[in-house]
Amino acid sequence: MPRVRVHQHVNPLAPYYRFTPKPILLEEIFERPELPLFLDIGCARGRFILKMAELDKTQNFLGLEIREPLVAEANRLGSEANLTNLHYEFCNAMNEFGKLFEELPPNLLQNVTIQFPDPWFKKKHAKRRMVNAELVETLVSHLAEGGRIFVQTDIEFLAEEMFELFRANKNLREISIEDNPFPVKTEREKAVEEKDLPVYRTMFLKG
Ligand SMILES: C[S@@+](CC[C@H](N)C(=O)[O-])C[C@H]1O[C@@H](n2cnc3c(N)ncnc32)[C@H](O)[C@@H]1O
Repeated sequence: MPRVRVHQHVNPLAPYYRFTPKPILLEEIFERPELPLFLDIGCARGRFILKMAELDKTQNFLGLEIREPLVAEANRLGSEANLTNLHYEFCNAMNEFGKLFEELPPNLLQNVTIQFPDPWFKKKHAKRRMVNAELVETLVSHLAEGGRIFVQTDIEFLAEEMFELFRANKNLREISIEDNPFPVKTEREKAVEEKDLPVYRTMFLKG
């Protein structure tokens, strides 16, 4: 099966991506909506949570991605694999992100991963970086007590910027980690490892 061809990057501030997302209704997308929710933000082709959903039936896995064609393709692959604990949503995590979680029961969001987000190297593009104070605030307000946020990147300045934004939130405490705590690696993590480049990662716990 040929891979879907898509733009390598899209500008999240462009008018097309400034739409208000509809609240996620778990009963419409998962067979067992009562299970803890695992959220992967900027999931690209979604292979990380596809594998995670195969390995772990005790959680529901939701991938958010701004490149629309990837979402359709990932959902197609998920249903071909009969995974009823997996769903992908076309979403701009920088635009009214909180609306997505308006109908989410409290204490269900237990894991969040943000892995190798686009660095947007140029200073004039810094506003396009996905992790900003608003995203952190929204995520923490919906995260379950004891819930975890895992963040990793191979770009040092981005690691510092993102980690500081999470560290500034008083409801989180940082747990330093060396390795990826999950049994699966994203496509980007595999590519970085092949080049033997360093990865900067950390974990935050609510409460
Ligand atoms: C460098 S890729 C990393 C993909 C994957 N997490 C991995 O580690 O292989 C970053 C992904 O985040 C997506 N993305 C960028 N900005 C986004 C936004 N505002 N909302 C949702 N997804 C976004 C990109 O389209 C891209 O698929």
